Amino acid sequence: MPAIASRLNLFSESVIRDMTRIAIEYNAINLSQGFPDFDPPSELVDAAKRAMDGGHHQYAITWGAPRFRQALARKQSHWMGLPLDPDAHIVVTCGSTEAMMAAMMTVCNPGDRVIAFSPFYENYGADAILSGAEPVFVPLYPPAFEFDREELRRAFATGVKALILCNPSNPTGKVFTRDELQFIAELAQEYDAFVITDEVYEHIVYEPHQHAYIAGLPGMFERTISCSSLSKTYAVTGWRLGYVIASSEVIGGVRKVHDFLTVGAPAPLQEAAVTALDFPLSFYEELQAAYTSRRDCFLGYLDRAGLRYTVPQGAYYVLVDISDFGFADDTAFCVWMAREIGVAAVPGSSFFQEPVNHLVRFHFAKREETLAAAGSRLLRLKERG
Ligand SMILES: Cc1ncc(COP(=O)(O)O)c(C=O)c1O
Repeated sequence: MPAIASRLNLFSESVIRDMTRIAIEYNAINLSQGFPDFDPPSELVDAAKRAMDGGHHQYAITWGAPRFRQALARKQSHWMGLPLDPDAHIVVTCGSTEAMMAAMMTVCNPGDRVIAFSPFYENYGADAILSGAEPVFVPLYPPAFEFDREELRRAFATGVKALILCNPSNPTGKVFTRDELQFIAELAQEYDAFVITDEVYEHIVYEPHQHAYIAGLPGMFERTISCSSLSKTYAVTGWRLGYVIASSEVIGGVRKVHDFLTVGAPAPLQEAAVTALDFPLSFYEELQAAYTSRRDCFLGYLDRAGLRYTVPQGAYYVLVDISDFGFADDTAFCVWMAREIGVAAVPGSSFFQEPVNHLVRFHFAKREETLAAAGSRLLRLKERG
């Protein structure tokens, strides 16, 4: 048999989805792969049923159904503080996953260097390799996950095409401050680089932290490619609806890549999602309150189990320190924990470029009873710590 492409040797299958398989094997409560175990808002599900009966079964316009783009432009103009044109500034994609890949393929030539902060969401490594780019990692130092400004400047100075910014960040839960974003924006302008954002957790932020859109900073709209999706905000990870927001010049490129990657996102679900995009502001306040309560509840269980962690400022993940358990490697710890304790987490090393293996990532986008069940199992860790 002929060999498959050698670039596939440069990255492995997702460790996160692997942990889901292990969770199933040991019947563990799955706090590894980040998806909710609760339903989306019922208005949204009803809208999907209506859309199915409404004849939206063929391809939508490649770069997005007009009603979806109009609703998205209304919503994001408000949140981003930018006057977005639904016809010029938006491409609707199959999740932020496709949005990021399309953004990378739009701006990167083979051999271009792209900065990503480490730890990083694992897709970015693969995105870089598949788009021919070379990732350059700049550490976020635990436990506060701050970056060294001089280190970041040096990375820019090597000549980079773009910086990938996951904000709020998976897996650290970091929400970049306005001051940090301003510093990144200045470097991007000084070194003439793009910023490609992944902002899927834009609405999951804990007081007193606030999400700021780097695209909204002075001079940044032209060089920012903002990627996000409906997956997390509306608890519809299976709907595969995401988008790219950028200047019309960049969007021209993204449309081409997107057309040949997937043609388009699901047409009936784009119609249904207009309902969600038109939700009042109170929806986002309630979302924040609900996630704050899930976070506080889960951190309470971690406290009772005697575990040390960095308090997340946003997103729905927490990195927990496992140094006290005496495991040489975090993957062995996660497999052991799934089997013996009955809770699955992701080995932190899968997110770090540096040799960090004393952290594991839990997610808490779960119903109260699921978190309570996981919490009582985690108490058994006390006997081992
Ligand atoms: C940072 C980040 N980006 C993107 C995704 C995937 O998003 P989507 O469902 O929109 O493809 C995830 C999912 O966990 C994520 O954590």
